[in-house]
Amino acid sequence: MMNYDLALKPTDLTVTFAQSLDGKLAGALGSQVVLSCRESRFMTHWLRSRHQGILVGVNTAINDNPQLNTRLLHGDPENPQPIVLDTHLRFPIDAKLIKNYAAGTGKQPWIVTATNEDQLWLDRKAALEATGARIIEVLDTRNISQVVGRIRQLGISSLMVEGGAQIIRSFIQSPIVDNLIITVSPTFLGKEGVGYELDLEGRGTNLSFERSFQLGRDTIVVFKKASSSS
Ligand SMILES: NC(=O)c1ccc[n+]([C@@H]2O[C@H](COP(=O)([O-])OP(=O)(O)OC[C@H]3O[C@@H](n4cnc5c(N)ncnc54)[C@H](OP(=O)(O)O)[C@@H]3O)[C@@H](O)[C@H]2O)c1
Repeated sequence: MMNYDLALKPTDLTVTFAQSLDGKLAGALGSQVVLSCRESRFMTHWLRSRHQGILVGVNTAINDNPQLNTRLLHGDPENPQPIVLDTHLRFPIDAKLIKNYAAGTGKQPWIVTATNEDQLWLDRKAALEATGARIIEVLDTRNISQVVGRIRQLGISSLMVEGGAQIIRSFIQSPIVDNLIITVSPTFLGKEGVGYELDLEGRGTNLSFERSFQLGRDTIVVFKKASSSS
């Protein structure tokens, strides 16, 4: 199996996503678009296999209904722990992550949420727990250090963050990201597409360019935390 020479460490926090040449992650109104070619999709599954946890935002969980597993890889590597960041418990009880867990083909989904006394939230919590999902409460889901700290406390040392746009923006503005791996697809999604709107080399991030390489038609661009670059 390839290793892509990414020098991942066992405690790394890695943000990864695919974008078009005009910096978009999704189509108009957040519609799902397959940007990655076969070779870079395979790398994404390999990256999943190299992290203990994989986190997405609740909008991605609702829109794309992802399975967050390593099904493209041979040799049955362990799937990462699926984690959804979801302040108001909007995660659907018929999501594939829940169905896979019920069918014994996926890990128990973890939903990181903000503690709330609101009846709707309590009802949603009960409904999700009834499916077997694990509800993990933090004080503030917008506090990335707090969210990641809680996830690490629960035994997940390495975490991969896969999107979408708002989650990416939150994470790469926090100082705790070790790797940022962007798949750039030679396509344009136009001004209606959804982007992450962030100046990666400017203020608000301590990531610096490491290298880039080609996979199929896509270019993979790797940034690393400035202090951990060799
Ligand atoms: N190109 C790619 O690689 C890629 C990857 C994944 C997804 N996507 C696309 O991205 C789109 C979804 O992106 P999105 O921006 O709408 O949603 P998102 O980033 O998936 O989820 C954002 C939601 O997560 C919740 N959240 C909780 N804590 C947060 C925090 N600290 N920071 C940010 N959000 C937090 C918020 O909802 P609450 O306030 O309700 O908690 C927020 O609205 C989909 O269309 C999907 O296809 C693309």
